[in-house]
Amino acid sequence: MSAPNKSYDPVEVEALKPEEIERMRDEALAAVAAAADLDALREVKAAHAGDRSPLALANREIGALPPQAKAEAGKRMGMARGAVNKAFAARQAELEAERDARVLVEEAVDVTLPYDRTPAGARHPITTLSERIEDVFVAMGYEVAEGPEVEAEWFNFDALNIAQDHPARAMQDTLFVQAPGKKAKEAESGVVLRTHTSPVQVRTMLDREPPVYVICPGRVYRMDELDATHTPVFTQVELLAIDEGLTMADLKGTIEHMVRSLFGEGLTTRLRPNYFPFTEPSAELDMQCYVCRGESAGNPDRPCRTCSSEGWIELGGCGMVNPRVLTAAGIDPEKYSGFAFGFGIERLLMFRHSVEDMRDMVEGDVRFTRPFGMEI
Ligand code: PHE
Repeated sequence: MSAPNKSYDPVEVEALKPEEIERMRDEALAAVAAAADLDALREVKAAHAGDRSPLALANREIGALPPQAKAEAGKRMGMARGAVNKAFAARQAELEAERDARVLVEEAVDVTLPYDRTPAGARHPITTLSERIEDVFVAMGYEVAEGPEVEAEWFNFDALNIAQDHPARAMQDTLFVQAPGKKAKEAESGVVLRTHTSPVQVRTMLDREPPVYVICPGRVYRMDELDATHTPVFTQVELLAIDEGLTMADLKGTIEHMVRSLFGEGLTTRLRPNYFPFTEPSAELDMQCYVCRGESAGNPDRPCRTCSSEGWIELGGCGMVNPRVLTAAGIDPEKYSGFAFGFGIERLLMFRHSVEDMRDMVEGDVRFTRPFGMEI
């Protein structure tokens, strides 16, 4: 920069001549107008309005002028730089508006377009609940066993000590399957849709050497109308243990463990005498109501909807495997004893989750399954 001019000699600074300032201004304005986008404009700004731009450099020379010329040059320079800054701001606003308009078009999302992603489904609570039960038993050392749903009559009935004329056959209204290519009356086909998972007991005993500890989940079929409390296709879980020295106490302890794992600590179970051809003795197994814990029974001040104020909830049938069944499956009843327990998952789901209508479980509507979550 030139030293301040203390004398009053007129000093001519080339860069501060009016035509020169105008030239630099016009050059800057032309460059601003020519900037096609914001990046170009940024470069124009550095070149024509930055610290090292011709106008800025010329501005530094003002101090070298005598006072009168200094004032005039300062004014002219101020106007020129003001005009450049104004043009720059205007062009910047213009280019930004253009960019925003372009982005709106280019990145527009049509929210009215139909979306084609397949919505994620949810696992059926019957599946997740049976698997949870399986887990309880697998943790105790049981294995999961499965059998066919279209079953030989022999496995479904005969081997389980349910003779031809046994009333239990009528008890479980059976769906017979006509054998392919045969004209025989359906009831003589010898093939049924299994009415319970107990035939898996027999298949397992034939397959394995004792000790046997298995849990058999599966779909079963009975001639029922679909209504709020019945479905012709439902799910049972049956467990079977065969070992030396097993007693009803083992059965009760095992079920109690299951009840506590599924419903919470401290709940007890009770056995009520019953009859099943394949177990002897047989019993109906109840668990203490997990909601009122038995307090509603005989207590009108504390009604309980879950157990209808019974204090107990019926779980399923059980008993010690009938020695005749052991014999039919090739196991020595003198050496081994066993227990079995079978129950329906739909009923369990109903009282565990307050499901009021069984039809919800078979209709396949995701609005029913989704609240149970995506549990694996
Ligand atoms: N299979 C019986 C039923 O479906 C239930 C059961 C299983 C009973 C095992 C006793 C032992 O009704």
